[in-house]
Amino acid sequence: MIGAQRYLDESTYAQTRLPVSLASTLIPEAYYSEDFHAIERDRVWNRSWICVGYAHQLAQVGDTIVVRVDERSIIVTRAPDGIRAFHNVCRHRGAEILSAPGCFKYFRCPYHAWGYALDGTLKGVPYFEDNETTPELLSIYDASRAKEFDKAEYGLLPVKVGVWACFVFINLDPASAPLSDQLGDLAERLTNYPLEELQLVKSVFYEIDANWKLVAENYMEYYHLPTVHPSLNLVSHLRNHYPFQGPGMYYGMTTRPLDKDPNVPIDRELRHMPRLDEEENQSARWVWLFPNVSISLLPDYMIIMALNPAGPRRTIERYDYFCHPDTIGMPNFAELIEPVYRFWDEVNIEDIRIVESVQRGLANRAYQGGRMCFRFEDTIHQFQNHVIDKMVGKC
Ligand code: FES
Ligand SMILES: [Fe+2]
Repeated sequence: MIGAQRYLDESTYAQTRLPVSLASTLIPEAYYSEDFHAIERDRVWNRSWICVGYAHQLAQVGDTIVVRVDERSIIVTRAPDGIRAFHNVCRHRGAEILSAPGCFKYFRCPYHAWGYALDGTLKGVPYFEDNETTPELLSIYDASRAKEFDKAEYGLLPVKVGVWACFVFINLDPASAPLSDQLGDLAERLTNYPLEELQLVKSVFYEIDANWKLVAENYMEYYHLPTVHPSLNLVSHLRNHYPFQGPGMYYGMTTRPLDKDPNVPIDRELRHMPRLDEEENQSARWVWLFPNVSISLLPDYMIIMALNPAGPRRTIERYDYFCHPDTIGMPNFAELIEPVYRFWDEVNIEDIRIVESVQRGLANRAYQGGRMCFRFEDTIHQFQNHVIDKMVGKC
């Protein structure tokens, strides 16, 4: 089989389909081929629930964000009847309607001023129908009704939207399974964490010269902790990690107990989130939710990392820190959180350096894939098999 067609075929992935104790990693081309990337855009990014933002960004009616998924611009807004999402494209001649977030009463296209309600219905088509036209203009051009034109048929094109806890997701596939299928039992596992109450305290963007899957895979294994992250390994030690997995397209790990180290700002002086049980007060939870987002839950803060591919060899990563209002209310919060930002920036740069190294290594055609370490890389095995399922059309 030649060309891109082979990326749709199950036999291409035979070595990764084996049980993890025998499996080899996903074919190297999956991380640099333009053809693979084009199919992946359609089959993974256009057919999965993608985390695009947070409920707090859409707190009031009219609050709106503009997001990009697979290079398509999408409007996500709070309409009077709940959160809705639409393709950011005018039903007249296709202009992008919004270029920035904001709080809107309605959406007005910047080209010829067609107007849409927050629920997407087309309300105004200036000069298009006689009832849209002033008496003066009626005398200078033909304003008879546009033929067979019904505004009801030209509302904004809807996109499926789903909300879990503080997270807002969209799915570009109208026929997709519900968000709950992708989440599986994750909500129950994290039920004690007050996710809806947490507040965003800082966002950082990183640009990475590596395929998005390498960034994801790196997050979901702790095999590299002692070598790549000697500081993090002091408190989140390799030996204290336990994978957790239920139904759903996620890959979870727990560190228990978290050790203390005077130089590592994890579980030091920041107030813990309320209502955590004894075990959660001594643990960290690390979850990768397919395809593009990680949820890192420490007892005292949460970090969300969300990926957006910018081509097969480049990824834009957003790194968001959240704390509970009780923690933010501590008198010395600003002083205590600063080392947290510095620490995770260092850890993240350690990760970025190593995934960029892997990206360069994979481009060497002498390498055809390697064996997975069954002890640590079951999560990666599952993730890669989910990617394969998408590529061959199994889910
Ligand atoms: S393209 Fe939007 S009003 Fe013409
Ligand atoms: Fe890492």
